Amino acid sequence: SAIAVIVVAAGSGTRLGHAEPKAFVPLGPGTVLSVAVDSVLAMRETPHLVLVVPVDRVESTRSSFAPIAEAAGAELVVVAGGATRQESVAGGLAVLPASVDTVLVHDAARALAPALLFDEVVGAVRARRRGIVPALDVVDTVKRVSDDGRVLETVDRSALRAVQTPQGFPRASLDHAYATAHEEFTDDAALVASAGLVVDAVPGDVRAFKITVPADLHRAEQLVAERAA
Ligand code: C5P
Repeated sequence: SAIAVIVVAAGSGTRLGHAEPKAFVPLGPGTVLSVAVDSVLAMRETPHLVLVVPVDRVESTRSSFAPIAEAAGAELVVVAGGATRQESVAGGLAVLPASVDTVLVHDAARALAPALLFDEVVGAVRARRRGIVPALDVVDTVKRVSDDGRVLETVDRSALRAVQTPQGFPRASLDHAYATAHEEFTDDAALVASAGLVVDAVPGDVRAFKITVPADLHRAEQLVAERAA
């Protein structure tokens, strides 16, 4: 029973204010993507690694990550992404070997998600045989607001969670959900839930935050430096 981790890294990430696509922005000794891959390759059980990158980066990504994957004993496949995150994940799913029965989907932008979080998601998928998302309590007070900015109501935050990646699924569930999806979702758990399948939340990790704006990159640099120290 093999695991695959699909790392989606094909977004442009314009909010970061860099010329490069977000996953290829320098971070620590490498890039956002290489820091993300370091955690994947540090998992307890070495997974198949699928990197989904912009079409013009497929060759260079393959050559720079092949030695790292080989050293870790991981099969590596690099494919071109699509116009949306969902298309990019679908591209990764399409190249999984038949032996894979547990699939984790991870945003490269959540580069500091620790290996232990991946291991915990894998363990929960196998134990419960359903989709698993890491999630954190919402600490801010959340309001519903009208289009013109009027505060309409305060939402009860005790029932809300902010979800992260890696999100894990039995392979058959994810394949089925992607084959039947007719709209765009912002994460895989929403897509799987729309196919009528159950998804559970497990405790997330603050380090799995998404690098989105320059301040996030700064925080990521600090965490990488602390980790190296
Ligand atoms: O844009 P956002 O931060 O929500 O993207 C989440 C993740 O999905 C990023 O790691 C990004 O590279 C990836 N993505 C992708 N293909 C797209 C859009 C986003 O692989 N077309």
